[in-house]
Order: sequence, then C-alpha cells, then structure tokens
Amino acid sequence: MTEAGTIQTPRTMRASVLVRPGTVEVQDVQVPVLNSHQVLVKISAVGVCGSDTHFFQEGHIGDMVVKEPLILGHESAGTIVAVGADVPADRIGERVSIEPQKPCRVCEYCKSGQYNLCPQIEFYAAPPIHGAFAEYAAIEADFAYPVPDHVSDEAAALMEPLSVAIATCRKAAVRPGARVLIAGAGPIGVLVAKVAGIYGAAEIVVSDPAPHRREFAVEAGATRAVDPMSGEPATAGPLFDVFVDASGAPAAIQAGIRAVKPGGRVVLVGMGADDVMLPVSLIQNREIELTGIFRYTNTWPMAINLVASGLVDLDSLVTHRFGLDNVEKALLTGSTDPHAIKSVILP
Ligand SMILES: NC(=O)c1ccc[n+]([C@@H]2O[C@H](COP(=O)([O-])OP(=O)(O)OC[C@H]3O[C@@H](n4cnc5c(N)ncnc54)[C@H](O)[C@@H]3O)[C@@H](O)[C@H]2O)c1
Ligand SMILES: [Zn+2]
Ligand SMILES: [Zn+2]
Repeated sequence: MTEAGTIQTPRTMRASVLVRPGTVEVQDVQVPVLNSHQVLVKISAVGVCGSDTHFFQEGHIGDMVVKEPLILGHESAGTIVAVGADVPADRIGERVSIEPQKPCRVCEYCKSGQYNLCPQIEFYAAPPIHGAFAEYAAIEADFAYPVPDHVSDEAAALMEPLSVAIATCRKAAVRPGARVLIAGAGPIGVLVAKVAGIYGAAEIVVSDPAPHRREFAVEAGATRAVDPMSGEPATAGPLFDVFVDASGAPAAIQAGIRAVKPGGRVVLVGMGADDVMLPVSLIQNREIELTGIFRYTNTWPMAINLVASGLVDLDSLVTHRFGLDNVEKALLTGSTDPHAIKSVILP
C-alpha cells in the first residue's frame, strides 16, 4: 500500500488481457499496487513464450486453468518507476530484468534454495497471477536485477529463457569435454546448446525436424544438427554424457534416452505429452539419472553476466516485434511464420 519514492505513475495502464481462450483485448486496468518490498517496473520488452500461446489457445496448461481474465507474458524487463516503503528510493530509474516469481521464502523448499518448488509460489502469467503484457508490472525488489546499459531491453527480457537453459545445464552437470545431445532447436534448445558450450561441452548435437531451426542451432554453437525424421540417427557414434529434451516429443525423449551412456544424465525440459513410455531396463542397466526441470532458481546473476560479457547473444533470437495492440498476432507467429524464433512485445 506504500508509495514511498514514487515518481508520478498513473492509476491505470493499458494491458493486453486474455478474456477467454482465443481472445485477447487491450483494456485499461489498475496499475499494480506495491507492497512494501516491491518495485513497480515500466515494461520495455516482453518475450512471447510457448506457454503464453498455449494459455491463449487452450485456456489451461495441465491443471493450471485460466478462470478469470489474465494478463499473459513472463519474459520481461523495464525500468523501475516506483518503490515500496522498504526499498531504497535510489533504485528508481534502474533498468532491470524481472525474475517473474514470488516464492513464500519460509517453506522447506524456499529455505533449502529450491524456491521454484515452493507450493505457494506466484509466477507471472500462471493463473491467477497477472503477467507483463502491460505498461507496468510489480515484482519483489530482489527479483528485479539491474542490467548494464549496453544490454538491450529485449536481451534483458530474454534472461528468462536463458535462465531455463542455465538451470538445465546445471542439473545436467555438463562438464568440460562432455558430449551433449539436445532434442528441439527452439529458443530453449538453442540456449541450452549455447550454455552447454560455455560449460565446456566438446560436442553438442541438436535434433529438430525444422531445417531453419537446425541452421539456427549451428549458428548458435551446436557442433552438428540432425533431422530426426531423416533416418540419420542423432545417436550415431559414441553414446552421450547428457541428453536434454527441449522438444516435448515422446519419440525424441525415447531416442534420446537410448543415446545416453552408462552413468549419464537425462534432463526433460520440454512440455508435451504428460505420459511417455520409458525404456526402463536400459535406464536401470546403464544407471542413467533422469530428471525434469521446473523453471529455475538463482540463475539471473549468471544470465546477466553471460549476456553483458558477450558470451551469449540474446538479441539474435528476436525475429518479430509487436505492440500491445497486436499480442494475438505475436502469440500466433510460431504457427504463421516458419522462420519465427522469438517474438517480443514492446508495450
Ligand atoms: N520445464 C520448464 O521450466 C520449461 C521452461 C520453458 C519452456 N519449457 C518447454 O521447453 C520446450 C521448448 O521451448 P521452446 O520455447 O524452445 O519451444 P519451441 O516450440 O519453439 O521448440 C520446440 C522445438 O522442438 C522441435 N521438435 C518437434 N518434434 C521434435 C522431435 N521429434 N525431435 C526433435 N525436435 C523436435 C520443434 O520443431 C521445435 O523447433 C517447450 O515444450 C516448452 O514448453 C519448459
Ligand atoms: Zn517462458
Ligand atoms: Zn516457499
């Protein structure tokens, strides 16, 4: 309820609101009211994610159901324009990248550092929590990370998918010299390839049926890109230390697991079918460690350093830009333009 240090901010803002599956509308809505340890961010750029498109088209993801009008968008950045009473006023004017989650900070998961697993977590654009396809968004002060001036607004927004890639490579324990197989060359698969290279992977093979996505993966640092439909096995040659699924395709998950060497690791990032048949005896005989990934924890400082130092180029992911009035087009570019990689909303 506090407005300490507020520059003049309006009471209402324009936001793109999902009013029912298949319909987004620009509406005037209330600017979020800050609690004492939050900041208000004037949004400069927001990436469009497959999950936004899924909520738009289906109205739910698994048991997360959109029951009331919802502002989508969780890959966001902007400038702090107001702070809560407990936040230093000199943060006003800072350009920040938003880690779009609010854990409870006191449960066993939060206390052990696995705050992504907090049962009370609030995450942007996961109903009923509003996201950032809007002029302003509120976030806990310590989840608004300053970015250097030379990092663009769009790159600052895309720290979010980069964070998924960092969390994945950490969990996969990618080591110098490792051989890594990745299924799916969307933004996530390509960023996993990039980060795996930075972690020292010597061979990074990416599979994707889409030719331009394979090209993009190689430009981004994959050592080889293969078409899983061509009959050319991604898995020819020695087995891999790590397999990451960033496709959600059951066939890719099954083939990938078979390509992992004894003692290797499998990380499932892609969200597709809820249930997939697994080669159980192979997993047993090879003692393969298989796990999933759910977003991220403590990745923003590394993501910002990777981008600020030039090790990761997030700007090259952006293929389309839209204003708040064209969110529907932005949500559908994945299906309307085969060359689309990442669309960004500039509110
Ligand atoms: N676990 C998490 O926290 C988390 C976070 C973000 C995204 N995701 C998920 O990660 C996945 C990737 O995200 P994205 O933004 O890159 O999505 P995307 O849809 O842009 O990319 C998926 C890619 O997989 C490819 N593909 C389809 N079938 C394939 C197959 N059989 N073999 C190899 N590739 C195949 C597609 O052509 C596409 O290029 C999505 O399922 C997304 O929902 C998960
Ligand atoms: Zn996302
Ligand atoms: Zn918690």
